[in-house]
This record gives sequence, C-alpha cells and structure tokens, in this order.
Amino acid sequence: MSLLITGGAGFIGSHVVRHFVTRYPSYHVINLDALTYAGNLENLKDIEKAPNYSFVKGSIEDSVLLDQLFSTHDIKGVIHLAAESHVDRSISDPMAFIRTNINGTAALLNACRKHWKIFEGRRFYQISTDEVFGALGATGFFTEESPYAPNSPYSASKASADHLVRAYGETYGLPYVISNCSNNYGPNHFPEKLIPLCIHNILQDKPLPIYGDGQYTRDWLFVIDHALAIDRVYHQGKNAETYLIGGHNEYTNIDLIRLLCDQMDQRLKRPQGTAQKGITFVKDRPGHDKRYAIDATKIEKELGWTPAHSFEQGLEATIDWYLENNSWLEQVTTGAYQSYYKDQYKS
Ligand code: NAD
Ligand code: TYD
Repeated sequence: MSLLITGGAGFIGSHVVRHFVTRYPSYHVINLDALTYAGNLENLKDIEKAPNYSFVKGSIEDSVLLDQLFSTHDIKGVIHLAAESHVDRSISDPMAFIRTNINGTAALLNACRKHWKIFEGRRFYQISTDEVFGALGATGFFTEESPYAPNSPYSASKASADHLVRAYGETYGLPYVISNCSNNYGPNHFPEKLIPLCIHNILQDKPLPIYGDGQYTRDWLFVIDHALAIDRVYHQGKNAETYLIGGHNEYTNIDLIRLLCDQMDQRLKRPQGTAQKGITFVKDRPGHDKRYAIDATKIEKELGWTPAHSFEQGLEATIDWYLENNSWLEQVTTGAYQSYYKDQYKS
C-alpha cells in the first residue's frame, strides 16, 4: 500500500517519514515536499535509498501533480504535515500561509475526493497544532472540546485547514482523523524557532532574544514522541475524531532558556552562567498567546500513548544532535533564512 506523507523533508515530517519507512517495510512511503527554506533532504539521508521510500519534489497546491500521483499509486492514506509553520513569518507574510496551509490542504482534500472511488480502507490524517485553540490563562488545559479561537495568521490558517478536513468528512464522507499537538523540539528543528535558535546563538555567541517579559508558557514534546503518537492515531484513531497530543511539560520561555543555557554550559565545559549572559529581552511578538497546555487524557486512555522521553532526556539529546551536526546548522542558516532573519522586527 502507498502512504503519502506531505512535508516529509521538514522538522516533524522527517521523523515521521523515517518512522514509517523503517517500521513498516510493506508500506510504500511517498514524501511530497516543495523543499521551501524549511525543507531539507539532508534530514532523510539515512533512509533515502530504502526500497520502500520515494521522494517527489512539488507543492501540495499543484492539482495536476496530485492527479498524477493519485493516478500512478494506490494511495491508501495521506498524512498531511506540509505547511508554513512559523508564527513570526505568518505575521510578516500571511499570504504564504493562506496559500500553503489553506489552499494546499484544500487541493489535497480534492485529490482524495476525486481519486478515492471507494473510501473504505482509506484515511486522511491532518496534523495540526494546539495553537488553533488560542491562548489559555494561568490555569486549565486544552481538550478535544476546546473551541477554536486562533490568534495568529499561522494558527488561523491551520484552523481553516482543520475545518476544511472536517467539512469534507461531513459533506462527502471522506474518512479523516485530526490531531492537535503542542510545541515540538528535537533534531532537525529549523533554527528560527525558540529552542534551536537559542542553541545556534549560544554556539555563535549571539544574543538570545526573549520576547516581552519571557513569561509566556508552552508545553514541549520531544519530536520522536510526536512521531510515535502519529503512528497510533493513524492506525488506531477513530474516524472523524480529534486527538490532542502533549508533553505535560510546561515551561515559561525564560525558565526554559535558562535551563537550556545551563545544559549548554555544562556540555561545552564552560562556567555556569556564561550562556545566560546572552539573554536579551526584545520587543514582544504582536498577538502573542500567553499559554498553551494540553490535556492528553484521550490519546493516553483510548490509544495507550504517553511520551517516552522526559524533558531532560529530550533536551540533552537535542543539544547533542546540534553539537554533532554543526554543518547542518551552517547549511540552513545561509541564504534565504539569513536575509529573513536580518529583517525581523525583533532585531
Ligand atoms: P517545518 O516548517 O519544519 O516543515 C514544513 C515542511 O513542509 C517543509 O519540508 C516544507 O518544505 C514543506 N512545505 C511547505 N510548503 C509546502 C507546499 N506548498 N507543498 C509541499 N511541501 C511544502 O514544519 P514542522 O514544524 O515540521 O511542522 C509540520 C506540521 O506539524 C505542520 O503542519 C505544523 O502546523 C504541524 N505542527 C507543528 C508543531 C511544531 O511544534 N513544530 C506542533 C504542532 C503541529
Ligand atoms: P516558537 O518556537 O516560535 O513557537 P510558537 O510560536 O509556535 O509557540 O516560539 C515559542 C515561544 O518562544 C513563543 O512564546 C515565542 C517565544 N520566542 C521568543 O521569546 N524569542 C524568539 O526568538 C522566538 C523565535 C520565540
């Protein structure tokens, strides 16, 4: 059977592709990725020659390409990760998010509707984010019943995509499942997001930009635990249901970066407090969501998934990976990314 994974050259997608290629040799995994600034085939070097893996460079917005793919392969499932994913970029250029995240998802849904003559045994899996639920106050958690209330162009575009998926299910009977996950971290994370940006800047002796007062809270999950949760939801999740995935691991940004600084000092054998000197409070992100936190009871109880990595283990593994893959960091921080970075309002 063929499984189409979109966005498989990105951060989470590359872990998902590797997991499915190695764990399920009988699946033919097709990775469709446009290779934007965030997509990198280096992320998949170790499995690129696997007999059950194919890469297709192209956009999810390209209906002609999708028609070709769906006519050539008997695609039983789609795991849809391709997206523009960075909130700050969505503030500078919202239209790119609307094109990829909304139009692109619609094009994929249309391809499934057009080519899947029989829906039985097929599944469209929408990978989404907890950011669609907006911001929490000091207490409480997002659950599967939380109302959608997105605040950034990124989260609004993901919310629209989720609604389209649900609507195709209701209207055409398209079999689907959705999961909304908290903030991921781990190897291959593009250094525009908080954790890899700060690892990169510590290594370069550059300032560590903390937006506003740093008292914003995120719930962090190691990316490999997310890939394992995606496997569970894809194979065992109930049709037309949503599952929330989270790490039970809340940190304010400032506490997280202090911990990261201490671990980096230890790893680099420098006096404690060295990296923290780089912490710089900068102008806040407009519309900055105060807190995200997930109640993951449903996926734990119904599908038996819990995160396998503690935050300390995950963060250590992440730091080790970046130290051992300096050339990856160098490669992705040149070109398009650099010019974007210079233009940011945070500078
Ligand atoms: P990423 O930015 O690292 O990767 C996105 C990938 O999509 C890249 O490989 C890029 O080349 C590809 N892509 C972009 N536009 C495309 C297009 N038009 N056609 C085909 N491919 C295209 O993103 P990520 O952090 O790995 O996130 C993956 C998915 O998971 C996204 O849908 C995101 O909304 C969701 N998600 C992310 C997080 C997180 O913490 N990063 C948390 C929850 C959900
Ligand atoms: P980010 O990694 O961009 O993920 P998201 O916005 O999807 O949660 O940001 C995580 C948190 O860190 C968020 O509260 C914004 C904050 N942040 C900073 O303080 N400084 C930075 O340079 C970045 C990129 C993020």
